[in-house]
Amino acid sequence: MRSAIIMAAGKGTRMYSDLPKVLHKVANKTMVDNILDSLHEIHVDQVVTVVGYGSQMVMDTVKDRCQYAIQSEQLGTAHAVMQASQLKHLQGETLVINGDCPCISSSTLNMLLEEALENDMVVLTTKLDDPKAYGRIVRNPEGYVDRIVEFKDCNEEEARIQEINTGIYCFKNEVLFKYLDYVKNDNAQQEYYITDLVRILKEHGLKVKAVLTDNQEEVQGINNKVELAMANAYKRRLINEQFMLEGVTMLDPMHTYIDADVTFGKDCIVYPNVVIEGKCHIGDGSVLLPNCFIKDSHIGANSVIDSSRITDSEVGSNVHIGPNSHLRNGCKIADEVRIGNYVELKNTTLGYNTKCAHLTYIGDSVVGSKVNFGCGVVTVNYDGKHKHQTIIKDGAFIGSNVNLIAPVSVGENAVCAAGSTITENVEDGAMAISRAYQINKPEYGNRYKNK
Ligand code: UD1
Ligand code: CA
Repeated sequence: MRSAIIMAAGKGTRMYSDLPKVLHKVANKTMVDNILDSLHEIHVDQVVTVVGYGSQMVMDTVKDRCQYAIQSEQLGTAHAVMQASQLKHLQGETLVINGDCPCISSSTLNMLLEEALENDMVVLTTKLDDPKAYGRIVRNPEGYVDRIVEFKDCNEEEARIQEINTGIYCFKNEVLFKYLDYVKNDNAQQEYYITDLVRILKEHGLKVKAVLTDNQEEVQGINNKVELAMANAYKRRLINEQFMLEGVTMLDPMHTYIDADVTFGKDCIVYPNVVIEGKCHIGDGSVLLPNCFIKDSHIGANSVIDSSRITDSEVGSNVHIGPNSHLRNGCKIADEVRIGNYVELKNTTLGYNTKCAHLTYIGDSVVGSKVNFGCGVVTVNYDGKHKHQTIIKDGAFIGSNVNLIAPVSVGENAVCAAGSTITENVEDGAMAISRAYQINKPEYGNRYKNK
């Protein structure tokens, strides 16, 4: 049986935020979700997250990804672990992880679980040039770990130690819960430290091992926004490297922000300042030019998106979008469509090879194939109270600056003359023109100018 406890009850005072620390995001996922992802990869049977400060907010965000234990008063990390009473009588190995350590990988956690088969307690350590306020690892002359001393309890010599506690441990579960009761709070912070278990277990003749990693970025704890930014940079780098190794071309991976769960086809090219969030797929050969924001959307093959925002939408193949267009609320765009500059589409379907190249708003509409929109077409879908639908059939031609007052429909191959305000349905093959006749007044122009 493999279990894990995530300690996430602290406030994170140094974040200066109303959000509990573990809900701050690294690579667009909360810290605690990042840890849960790593745990799920290695099939840990039971995970308990210890919550306290902002507990409801944490549980509402993380939902049913794990079990919870409430620590109503934050009396220290050993006290936090004690709250996970669900795990009390289990056999096997239990990981204990600081909730503010979001970059920890599944392979490192797996290594600790394996080490715990041979040991009663394993603690993950690293060496830092500046060991800051981390707990110091004190080793005996033979090189085995003796105890962990919290920074605030260090004497001068201990404070100089560069090997630090990462706050990630693995225990034999029975040992953990038996000896937690031995931890006292007679220290500088009057807290129950989980780190005391090193000394306590050794005093009882149990086996404790400190495993050193040289990947400092992976094990860094997040206590402030500077460390949060560093963790983001590290995680983004790993994600982007993985995408590139799988064949995505990135012009500037340092300025590319893609969620780990996004998928790409072959030969995609991503320009700088592209953000892709949530559940997205980018099809073979598609190119994302600079400054795109794409969320929860599917892009087909060989499409080009230029400086545009696309959310909750499906885009076909060989589509060109942008620059500066906005698709939202469930748009469905068929193949070979051209959506040009400054076009907004909402809850709209565009059929095969339809074109709306300039300055157009189409909302709540069903548009067929090979329809052409001139510049500045507006579907007037909102009467101040309700939204109404516009239907435009295959092959229709909508001239520039046409207003379509919904609900309204335009038939197959029908034409709406430029500048018309369309209030009545237009039948198949007809032309609708609705605008005032033009009167030219000779010499009026000259007279006006000479006034
Ligand atoms: C802890 C370690 C320290 C280690 C460092 C690594 C202890 C006593 N010290 O110090 O040796 O170098 O992590 O980052 O463990 N938490 C609770 N309940 C509590 C207290 C803390 O859930 O009562 C949680 C926090 O939310 C946080 C984690 O435990 O996610 C660590 O707590 P924090 O206060 O950040 O410990 P550090 O002082 O960093
Ligand atoms: Ca910390």
